[in-house]
Amino acid sequence: MAAVPEPVDTVFHARGLAKVYRTGEVEVHALREVDLDIARGEFIVLLGPSGSGKSTLLNILGGLDVPSAGEVMFCDHNLSTASESELTAYRRDHVGFVFQFYNLIPSLTVRENVALVTDIVENPMPADEAIDRVGLTPRRDHFPAQLSGGEQQRVAIARAIVKRPEVLLCDEPTGALDYQTGKLVLDVIARINNEIGTTAIIITHNAAIAGMADRVIYLGDGRIQRIEVNARKLKPSELSW
Ligand SMILES: Nc1ncnc2c1ncn2[C@@H]1O[C@H](COP(=O)(O)OP(=O)(O)O)[C@@H](O)[C@H]1O
Ligand SMILES: [Mg+2]
Repeated sequence: MAAVPEPVDTVFHARGLAKVYRTGEVEVHALREVDLDIARGEFIVLLGPSGSGKSTLLNILGGLDVPSAGEVMFCDHNLSTASESELTAYRRDHVGFVFQFYNLIPSLTVRENVALVTDIVENPMPADEAIDRVGLTPRRDHFPAQLSGGEQQRVAIARAIVKRPEVLLCDEPTGALDYQTGKLVLDVIARINNEIGTTAIIITHNAAIAGMADRVIYLGDGRIQRIEVNARKLKPSELSW
């Protein structure tokens, strides 16, 4: 008997997404006619030149920005018609963000930075578990200034995952790091995707990272230029750059 294919559990569904930024007389078309579906548990790498619309797309998926036209759904949440307070609740309950700069609170220890989040969300993982998942248990009583850039970024990842988000959105998480340290950080994100099944979308300038993804989405001039599917995901240690 033929196997019945598993139904795909789509977390993001976007159709005809467009974003126009208007500054006085000037209009910038940051996204044009973007159609995209992302399945639960996927590991997506977003590539493209500076200004191609990567951050705009990620910000719309994360409820930090809204499209000018088109529809975007997260499961049954319509993000294109959501109010400010609905978007705030969506971000709090479902999304972990990691940015290029770590935005840690300098006067709080690693554990305290992570525990801040566990106070405001339902059903978080224990702060120590999140810290363990990023390999920083020995450093949990240190302050950010006592840590390297890569370690600080791993604290930011622990802070993002402690609420057990369904999606982890990372905008150039290795942008301020050297290659070796960047690999470590990417390895942490890949392990979280693997072990917890968190859907992960990562923006990067580094095309070598593409091998880690289930799918690589190339943006250019606000459009999806092409999508590549990797038959086998590589571990960061197998990547060379
Ligand atoms: N808040 C904004 N106001 C005006 N223009 C913006 C704004 N954000 C982004 N843009 C413009 O939209 C385009 C896409 O930007 P962005 O999504 O940040 O690209 P990327 O992340 O790929 O570098 C760029 O031309 C950028 O200058
Ligand atoms: Mg960007």
